[in-house]
Amino acid sequence: MDHSDYEALDAGGVAEALGELAGVFSLEILPECDSTNSRLLDNPPPGDGRVHVLAAERQTAGRGRRGRAWQSWPGAGLTFSLLWRFAPAAHVPAGLSLVVGLAVARTLEELGVEGVALKWPNDVLIQGKKLAGILVELSSGRGRGLAAVIGIGINLRMPADAAVDSPMGVTDLASCLASPPSPSRLLGLVLAQLQLFLEIYAAAGFAALRGAWQQRNAFADLPVRILGEAHELTGTCVGVDDDGALLLQTAEGLRRVLSGDVSLRLA
Ligand code: BTN
Repeated sequence: MDHSDYEALDAGGVAEALGELAGVFSLEILPECDSTNSRLLDNPPPGDGRVHVLAAERQTAGRGRRGRAWQSWPGAGLTFSLLWRFAPAAHVPAGLSLVVGLAVARTLEELGVEGVALKWPNDVLIQGKKLAGILVELSSGRGRGLAAVIGIGINLRMPADAAVDSPMGVTDLASCLASPPSPSRLLGLVLAQLQLFLEIYAAAGFAALRGAWQQRNAFADLPVRILGEAHELTGTCVGVDDDGALLLQTAEGLRRVLSGDVSLRLA
């Protein structure tokens, strides 16, 4: 595909997909930036009661989990971040990044994508291949209160020769749907689902969404390996607990793995 003819994001299309939720978000679209997550972390916009969303047609230094890069080519993906502010007395958010994965999964399911699954903590897979990645980073300080920068990258139409650093392989929306939505419509639909799921999460915590996450657990009851900084753990993936920690049945008993610098693989 010639990536010079890609469909650009437009605020009207996003608002149309959001419908009555359009007023919840303030949207900024940039042709290019280093990383939408870095921008929101470094320069959080002043709060005006709306959720600020920053989308970029292209990132020059997109970041992934575990220090990985998130590559982008114009038109190949949807890349955006939003600044989600927590209520003043909120606890440190447990399971937040899993909830974001769930919202992306629901959006895809509503679009008719089949075989959507979640790989703990928050990769979105289609038939075992990665379609979307999520990077949640907490931001606080200077009297601003606790907030999360929620960054999402969704592959729309990857170049055939894209060399991507992903152990499970990648896929894109164009391979899953005969008529994929425009990037603007997709952004609006994901934001609408995020609004829905984050409201539930804010009111009732991850426990209220745990069952929905487990239904989509890509590795349910399968033997897995956890690759950490210092050690490796093997066991059977039992699911997640109310904090979003992974539960692993090992030879030594049930172990809880917290989302950190760990990677999950099929054993
Ligand atoms: C991963 O799978 O490792 C997470 C990838 C997250 C990529 C998104 S793209 C928008 C936002 N800005 C970034 O620099 N990263 C996230």
